[in-house]
Amino acid sequence: MALTATTLEETYQQMAQKLEGIVPEIELKYKAELAYEINKIKKERGAIILGHNYMEPALFHSVPDVVGDSLELSRKAAETDADPIVFCGVRFMAETAKILNPSKTVLLPAKVAGCSLAESITAEDVRNLRKQFPGVPVVTYINTYADVKAETDICCTSGNAHKVVESLDSDTIIFLPDEYLAANVARETGKKIIFPTLDMPENPKPGLDYQMIGWHGRCEVHDQFTVQDIKNVREQFPGVLVLAHPECSPEVVEASDFSSSTSRMVDYVRDMDADRYLLLTECSMADNIAAENPEKEMVGLCSIRCPHMNEITLEDTLNALQNNEQVIEVPEDIRLRALRSVERMLEIR
Ligand code: 13P
Ligand code: SF4
Repeated sequence: MALTATTLEETYQQMAQKLEGIVPEIELKYKAELAYEINKIKKERGAIILGHNYMEPALFHSVPDVVGDSLELSRKAAETDADPIVFCGVRFMAETAKILNPSKTVLLPAKVAGCSLAESITAEDVRNLRKQFPGVPVVTYINTYADVKAETDICCTSGNAHKVVESLDSDTIIFLPDEYLAANVARETGKKIIFPTLDMPENPKPGLDYQMIGWHGRCEVHDQFTVQDIKNVREQFPGVLVLAHPECSPEVVEASDFSSSTSRMVDYVRDMDADRYLLLTECSMADNIAAENPEKEMVGLCSIRCPHMNEITLEDTLNALQNNEQVIEVPEDIRLRALRSVERMLEIR
């Protein structure tokens, strides 16, 4: 999180205090120089930097004014007066900030920074589902692009999905695009899931044969964790508590000790007394939690990484602020329709 340092030396010292044993000293020196420059320009420009929990430790602990999960960062984007907004996260997150702040400059420090879930569904897919299931409300995960949000009734994040589903006055819901999140939410809310292309009855009667219609999107990262991974780690690290993001398969979530949004995972480790934790999510987060909880051992399966989140670097964050790159734009007609879905979600507390 943003440092109080005003000189390069203080920047280095404050980063070293948090990241000793996590980031090698030589790398920290180099990254402290970048962080110092970023924080200087940020102040000069009156910018705010929002940082997702998955950002690499040196970035996470030096330049964001606010860190958090998708829901917390969306709320912050809705409240801030700062301009520009630099989003250290992936494209759909920066787009959500732009949807909420049409007159401000929103910058994404990467050319692409996509997401396999966002890429798994198009606006036309949603329009087709609506035709197939007329009148059925559509909930889309925030991990979608603006044109998909524009076709939906309400958004959700991993932190509020069950509340959003329960807020709808309908037994039948279309929940897109994450197949696993849909299944995990269904289990929490008592709803049933069917997938239009595989399990659809010939003449569907919404509300009679099924209650929740899912899509076949998956997170390319969380899809890779298995129940066997959990068994192996439990054998090797007795007493380990296992945390699985709800984008993991229902079997993996079932075999874990806790499942919720990235920020709730951070809180869980802080609040529990166990010595060891396995995080089934992007492994930078394990380093970030370790920096805040030096007495606890974090086990991360770091061969599985999110290539999209890892596109965001301190170098590109500096470039974004120096050269206004990459400016996020959302066509106004799409933005206005997407805004309704995002605002409806933010109204749910
Ligand atoms: P959170 O909303 O839990 O931070 O999740 C975002 C994400 O992309 C997880 O892979
Ligand atoms: Fe998308 Fe998965 Fe990466 Fe999250 S971890 S940004 S859901 S690809």
